[in-house]
Amino acid sequence: MAGPSTEVALMTRALTLAAHGPAVDPNPRVGAVLVSTTGEVVGEGFHAGAGTPHAEIVALARAGGRAAGGTAYVTLEPCNHTGRTGPCAQALLDAGLAAVVFAQPDPNPSAAGGAATLRAAGVRVTGGLLEAEARGLNEAWTFALRHGRPRVVWKFAATLDGRSAAADGTSRWITGPQARADVHTLRAGSGAVLVGTGTVLADDPALTVRRPDGTRLDRQPLRVVLGRRAVPAGARVRDDAAETLLLTHRDPVAALATLAEREIRQVWLEGGPTVAGAFVQAGLVDEVVAYLAPALLGAGPAAVTGLGIATLAEAVRLEPFDVTTFGPDIRVRARPTRPDRT
Ligand SMILES: NC(=O)c1ccc[n+]([C@@H]2O[C@H](COP(=O)([O-])OP(=O)(O)OC[C@H]3O[C@@H](n4cnc5c(N)ncnc54)[C@H](OP(=O)(O)O)[C@@H]3O)[C@@H](O)[C@H]2O)c1
Repeated sequence: MAGPSTEVALMTRALTLAAHGPAVDPNPRVGAVLVSTTGEVVGEGFHAGAGTPHAEIVALARAGGRAAGGTAYVTLEPCNHTGRTGPCAQALLDAGLAAVVFAQPDPNPSAAGGAATLRAAGVRVTGGLLEAEARGLNEAWTFALRHGRPRVVWKFAATLDGRSAAADGTSRWITGPQARADVHTLRAGSGAVLVGTGTVLADDPALTVRRPDGTRLDRQPLRVVLGRRAVPAGARVRDDAAETLLLTHRDPVAALATLAEREIRQVWLEGGPTVAGAFVQAGLVDEVVAYLAPALLGAGPAAVTGLGIATLAEAVRLEPFDVTTFGPDIRVRARPTRPDRT
C-alpha cells in the first residue's frame, strides 16, 4: 500500500473521478483508482449512473489484469449485492487485489458488507479515508438510503415581513431575476419538484428547470402535485415538458414513500404555504432555502401556515449554514436542529 500522503492523493483522484457522475440519479457518484504492486496507477473509473457499470468494474476493465496484488482506492465501500450489476467486492477478489481503501461506508442496507466479504477473503481493507468529502458528493443519496425516504428541501420566496403573496393573491415576482435563476439551478439538483394543488390552481406554474434564456434543460425533475382537487387538463404541469405525477391525497409520508419507490433521492418542495406547513409539521423538511426580498407587504399569506404553534417556545428552530445575496435578495439556507439529519 502507498504511504499516507500518496493515499490521500489517490483518494482525492478517486473523488475527482466520482464527481464526473450525474449529480441527480438513483445511484451514488463513485470513483475508483487501481494501483499495481509497483505503485503505478493501472486503472481508473467512475460510475456514470443507474444501469451502467460501477466505478470498480470500469477501473478493472481498464487495468486489464495489471491490478493483481495491488490496491484499490474507492470513494464508497465496494458493494456486496447483485443489483443491476454484479457485486464489486467479488470482482475485486476475482482480479486478485491485495488491499482496498475506501472513503464512505455503504449506508445501503442491501449493499453493505463488501468490506467484510473482502476481509474474510484475506484482503487488507481500510475505510474512512476522506469520508466527509465522499459523503458530500452524495448527500441526498446517503440521506435517502439511511432514512428510507427522499431528502426534502423546502424552498420559498417571501418579503422581509414573511409574506409569500400579496393580499390580492399576486406573487409574481417577489424576488428578482438573479434569485429566480438560482432557484432553477438548485431545482435541477433534485429528482422531483413537489407543490400542492393550491399552487397549481393559483399560479399554473410550469415547474420545469430553465436557463435564464428560457430554454429547458434536457433532464427535468419529476413534477409532483399533492392534493385532492383535480388539476385542469390545460394546466402547464400536464404538458409534455416533463413527467408529472398527480398524487390525489394529502399525506406527505405516503407521497415520500411513492417517490422513494421511484428511487427519487431528493425532493424540491416549492410550497405553497399549506403543503409546506404539512411537511414541516410532520418533521419531513431537511433543509430550508428561503429567498427574502427587501420588500414589505403588511398583509397576504405567510410563507408557511398550519404549524399549530401557539407559543414562542414551540418555534421550529433552524440552524443557518449559508447566507448569500442575489441582486437585492437574500438567500438563507438552514437545517432543522433535530439530531440525525444527515
Ligand atoms: N412565495 C412562494 O414561495 C410560493 C410558493 C408556492 C406558492 N405560493 C403561493 O401560495 C398560494 C397558494 O397557497 P396554498 O396554501 O393554497 O398552496 P399549496 O400549499 O400548494 O396547496 C394547498 C392545497 O394542497 C392540498 N393539500 C395537499 N396536502 C395537504 C395537506 N397535508 N394538508 C392540507 N392540504 C393539502 C389541499 O388541496 P386539496 O383540497 O386539493 O386537497 C390544499 O388546499 C398561491 O398564491 C401561490 O402564489 C407562494
